[in-house]
Amino acid sequence: MDSNSRVFIAGSQGMVGSAIKRNLESKHYNEIYWVGRKNCDLRNRLEVDAYFNQVKPEYVFVAAAKVGGIVANRDYPAEFIYDNLMIQSNIIDAAYHNGVKKLLFLGSSCIYPKNSKIPITEDQLLTSELESSNDAYAIAKIAGLRMCRAYRQQYGFNAISLMPTNLYGINDNFDLETSHVLPALIRKCHEGKSYQYPITLWGDGTPMREFLHVDDLAEACYTCMQKYDEEGHINVGTGEDVTIKELAETIGDVVGFTGGFEWDTDKPNGTPRKVMNVDRIKSLGWESKISLREGIKQTYEWYLKNYDRV
Ligand SMILES: NC(=O)c1ccc[n+]([C@@H]2O[C@H](COP(=O)([O-])OP(=O)(O)OC[C@H]3O[C@@H](n4cnc5c(N)ncnc54)[C@H](OP(=O)(O)O)[C@@H]3O)[C@@H](O)[C@H]2O)c1
Repeated sequence: MDSNSRVFIAGSQGMVGSAIKRNLESKHYNEIYWVGRKNCDLRNRLEVDAYFNQVKPEYVFVAAAKVGGIVANRDYPAEFIYDNLMIQSNIIDAAYHNGVKKLLFLGSSCIYPKNSKIPITEDQLLTSELESSNDAYAIAKIAGLRMCRAYRQQYGFNAISLMPTNLYGINDNFDLETSHVLPALIRKCHEGKSYQYPITLWGDGTPMREFLHVDDLAEACYTCMQKYDEEGHINVGTGEDVTIKELAETIGDVVGFTGGFEWDTDKPNGTPRKVMNVDRIKSLGWESKISLREGIKQTYEWYLKNYDRV
């Protein structure tokens, strides 16, 4: 892939897709293509075929998906499985039939088994029971990973898959009904600043999680598009985790929320630790660069600037 390649970013208005677009623009790519849902519903095969036929991309990043936190996964499992199966199947198959040179698909660390050994290595996928709270999403994503592998095996199609950890950053989702923990905490701390009463959070704050800034992920996607042509998926994360308590305190500090946090220990903690082994992607010369505090600061600044919209 070089700066004159025709690159299609599916889902380029989302957090990951927009980061990949910014990354390629910063490298002076001048044939980047994207399309909104109004003009091409990626669940619709006819619309996807028409788009590929018109644009004739050489490289494809699949960053379109139905994505959400625990509440959304609980309430909309049918949409999580149907939308994701349709979007990824349409794009992967259309890419192959339209002569795309290489495609990059995104899984997610949350589709590894519930009781994965820490740090989670790539070979732990499908070795035991999935996390039941997002099982519809996980099954769809695993099908996407396996579809990339099957198209490589049968057709020699260069489709690769990345497994990012929890992401955050510009264009994140701050809707408390559907958001992930980090943007939800930014919003709660920001809104809590005007009264500075304690914010109540689930569990006791001890579970440890890994967070990667989406601009670091975008650079990882670029690196893998240039250097990785293997069948197996590849983890993308910082390789470091923090407790939810530390995360909340860092966000409170950056945002200027001094009301403190209370922990509702009647609510579940979830898995005690979740962090990935990132040796494989490090061997390609990529590693995360944006510290958690710096990333939260940048995300909060973006949130403030875009407050009316988000
Ligand atoms: N966010 C995370 O923490 C995280 C972690 C690991 C992996 N990932 C993976 O990264 C990828 C992108 O996630 P994200 O966080 O960037 O999600 P996002 O912000 O919700 O973006 C998803 C994009 O997909 C588009 N889309 C969804 N359904 C569509 C449809 N039927 N037709 C056309 N476009 C459609 C959305 O368009 P609309 O704006 O119109 O809905 C949006 O632009 C996903 O594959 C996800 O599994 C994310």
